[in-house]
Amino acid sequence: MLVVDGLRKGFGSGTNRLEVLNGVNMKLELGELVALMGPSGCGKSTLLNIIGGLLPAESGTITLKDKVYGQKSPSNVVDIRREYVGWIFQDFHLLEHLTAIDNVAMALELSGMVSKDAEDAARKALIKVGLEDRMEHIPDQLSGGQQQRVAIARAIAGNRPLLLADEPTGNLDIASGKEVLQLFKDLCHDETNPISILMVTHDPDLASNADRMLLLTDGVTKASDIRSAWGLDDEDGGEEE
Ligand SMILES: Nc1ncnc2c1ncn2[C@@H]1O[C@H](COP(=O)(O)OP(=O)(O)O)[C@@H](O)[C@H]1O
Ligand SMILES: [Mg+2]
Repeated sequence: MLVVDGLRKGFGSGTNRLEVLNGVNMKLELGELVALMGPSGCGKSTLLNIIGGLLPAESGTITLKDKVYGQKSPSNVVDIRREYVGWIFQDFHLLEHLTAIDNVAMALELSGMVSKDAEDAARKALIKVGLEDRMEHIPDQLSGGQQQRVAIARAIAGNRPLLLADEPTGNLDIASGKEVLQLFKDLCHDETNPISILMVTHDPDLASNADRMLLLTDGVTKASDIRSAWGLDDEDGGEEE
């Protein structure tokens, strides 16, 4: 489904040069929810931006279904952004004057769907995230967890196979965060139409409920387990905070 191979990226040049990704290799199967962890500033958002076609890498490739990219400029991967990848952010990014259904439908219309179809698809997506009785509410009339579910509906409405979620529970209370995680699992494990989700989180508890955890450190990803996620892997008395 998604294969990332030898991805490198840095910013700046000369003495201002900062190496961020030093050869990231990772895979996501269809139907998998994978949590990506790592200290602040280690390159998690940079990695998501490259996978999402917003930023070119300096070397390496990304294979997402039938598409191969990674170093192409964003203008050459429009199809990735329109049809392959949905985004979910910490601060929802909803339009505050539009109802839930219009927020979702507008995104579909912008990608070229006619209004009637967009509204039907938006309704289906909102039902899928459990908001059938909140379709005509504007964001202000919804809780944080509900607003994030509108954003998730928007991300899945276009039938995109991969969702990139950058700290999706960062602005939510613990209970709402757990609900979002459960919704992610349901979407990934849906038998008729499974998707894959790569989710950045700082919460080891949520991460350990994903199908798999990855830790990004020193510019590479490695498999992680609950002990290392909690920073408990210092058997030989390594660094302590
Ligand atoms: N456009 C940019 N120009 C220069 N430096 C950047 C840019 N984007 C990110 N960085 C730097 O790259 C590093 C990784 O950033 P980021 O991917 O946002 O980390 P994370 O999401 O893990 O907190 C940080 O040191 C950040 O300051
Ligand atoms: Mg980030």
